[in-house]
Amino acid sequence: MKKKSKCYTLITGASAGIGRATALMAAAKNHNLILTARRLDRLQALQLECLKAGATDVQIFEVDVRNRASVEALAQQMKAQNIKLKNLINNAGLAKGTELFQNADLNNFNEMIDTNVKGLLNVTRIMLPFLIETRGHIINLGSVAGRLVYEGGSVYCASKFAVRALTEGLRMDLKGTGIRVTNIAPGMVNTDFSLVRLGNQQKADSVYSDMMPLSANDIAETILWCVERPAHVNIQELVIYPTDQATVGQVVRGEKSIKNLTEFDKSFEE
Ligand SMILES: NC(=O)c1ccc[n+]([C@@H]2O[C@H](COP(=O)([O-])OP(=O)(O)OC[C@H]3O[C@@H](n4cnc5c(N)ncnc54)[C@H](OP(=O)(O)O)[C@@H]3O)[C@@H](O)[C@H]2O)c1
Repeated sequence: MKKKSKCYTLITGASAGIGRATALMAAAKNHNLILTARRLDRLQALQLECLKAGATDVQIFEVDVRNRASVEALAQQMKAQNIKLKNLINNAGLAKGTELFQNADLNNFNEMIDTNVKGLLNVTRIMLPFLIETRGHIINLGSVAGRLVYEGGSVYCASKFAVRALTEGLRMDLKGTGIRVTNIAPGMVNTDFSLVRLGNQQKADSVYSDMMPLSANDIAETILWCVERPAHVNIQELVIYPTDQATVGQVVRGEKSIKNLTEFDKSFEE
């Protein structure tokens, strides 16, 4: 009988937020993990947490997705160890700034496109031979910003529209390989995302003030649910907003926030 090989889940941007939460949840489900990001110290701490949570093998690599050579070096190491990659979670991404286009810093535009679009292309193209071998699953972190454009967000939105287009195109080009491709499109998730975007903790906190955003764990659960569907089921796209966000730019705060309404609901259970 053919010996079974250990399969791995690779997460980009695992050092914080959604990537980190997904790593911990996948570890608790005994996935073997390859965790990548630029901040190696954070990955080292996470590696220990994942091993404690239930993963048997957790490998960490300092990878900047914008740097093709660093992604190629990762692939070389994986090849040398005969690693079988089952799931690729293209999570690394960011937004920078909220200025109107005419006032915005061109460096921010480049950083968003280089990370969210070109970084995802680097990782996906270089990892595809591994995924074709295992009939793997690609999960792309898109956004509701990949469905609707908002003022001061044109380039971030353009990058996430691109992620959505790439997800659809990949599904077409890869048909017949057994590979599944999924776009996860979250609304507001309370992570370091707003801190990175606005560069200031106070401003970042105000984004989520007096309302109940999604948590990184909410998205991690969603990602793993998609991965756990049987091989013949591909969740093509999943749009997930907090209840307090009706759509982009329409957020309920204060007494009508679900935070307060759920307090009210508890009185029915008594
Ligand atoms: N939070 C939200 O409201 C929200 C909503 C919709 C979609 N998303 C998407 O969800 C994904 C995760 O974001 P998050 O909310 O978890 O934000 P986060 O807490 O800031 O985490 C972002 C992660 O991406 C990594 N990263 C950024 N640039 C990178 C690069 N060049 N190379 C490698 N890794 C890089 C960061 O690690 P290092 O800095 O250590 O490299 C970090 O681990 C992003 O694609 C984001 O666009 C977020």
